[in-house]
Amino acid sequence: MATHDIAIIPGDGIGPDVTAEAFKVVDAAAEVFGFELNKTHYPFGSQHFLDTGEIWPDADFEEVKGMGALYLGAIGDPRIEVGKMEFGIIAKARFDLDLYLNIRPIKLYDERLCPLKGKGPDDVDMVIIRENTEGAYTGMHGFAHKGQSLEVATQTMVWTRAGVERAVRHAFEMARARGGRKHVTLIDKANALRAQDIWTRVFAEVASDYPDIATGHDYIDAACMRMVDSPEDYDVAVTSNLFGDIITDLGAMLQGGLGIAASGNIHPGKVSLFEPIHGSFPEAAGKNLASPIAAVLAGSMMLDYLGEQEASSAIENMVIDLFKSGRLKGVGAGDHGTNEVGDMVAAEVRRVGTPG
Ligand code: IPM
Ligand code: MG
Repeated sequence: MATHDIAIIPGDGIGPDVTAEAFKVVDAAAEVFGFELNKTHYPFGSQHFLDTGEIWPDADFEEVKGMGALYLGAIGDPRIEVGKMEFGIIAKARFDLDLYLNIRPIKLYDERLCPLKGKGPDDVDMVIIRENTEGAYTGMHGFAHKGQSLEVATQTMVWTRAGVERAVRHAFEMARARGGRKHVTLIDKANALRAQDIWTRVFAEVASDYPDIATGHDYIDAACMRMVDSPEDYDVAVTSNLFGDIITDLGAMLQGGLGIAASGNIHPGKVSLFEPIHGSFPEAAGKNLASPIAAVLAGSMMLDYLGEQEASSAIENMVIDLFKSGRLKGVGAGDHGTNEVGDMVAAEVRRVGTPG
């Protein structure tokens, strides 16, 4: 029986609430589909930092490198300096594990979840590939004359040919593997950020290796418009870090809300990180309010990555059925109890997966 080593950081706010539910479902899938999870829980997050001064000690970080996957609930706490925990945990994992792809599927499971008039599951089914280690996120910034009237602040966006190429190439591979419309859109702002010409050129070069895949291009502002107006135009889209961050929140709303959108931070062949794209929603922590569906779907993405495709699809299909039948009303705070949803999906996975 396959055993997968998993590191789990439930994190802040609703992170622990939704992580517990996600693993109810993942554990049920492991029982039904016959594999084992060797789970190590880590206490890292804002409370742990406040209690101990520790963010993510080197020895623990090294340990995670040897595992199959890392699962993260959520990070963010208003009691701590902005960005400290985000950089100490999320960005540390993305950069120091070189998780260069942030894969964010935007898939509408049921028409009633979509705020757009007249759009259904056939119209909203795309994957955004967000370059995950470069761009505006490298942390390269500075201030001069701080606090003075002539203060200067800089933030540098950085792109390397290798970094752009590996993200773009993955987008083409994914369009081929999905077998859908076989279309890749490049989203950038090369008309204003002239350094993004590197994206234009690398995209054209990579595209010439994939004659079977059609291509498109949108500037990020136009992409925001098109995502709302004609989401059916997108199959796979690839974009830089900051634009990917922004447009995937927009995408999450097309799917039904932040409570449904999951992501994988991936370095193919190496330990990779799976997380819901929502934040820590501190106001709802411990109140059994937040929907764990995004967390459950992040669990499904994790299983797919670990080679447990059957278990992964079973979870996703159960979620789709529960939405279609109306047993899952939605993913808004309080639509259901957090634990009610985890129990419901886990029970479905057991019921459907158990012969006879
Ligand atoms: C995300 C989040 C993070 C990001 C924050 C928490 C730093 O918004 O994963 O989309 O900007 O990447
Ligand atoms: Mg974001």
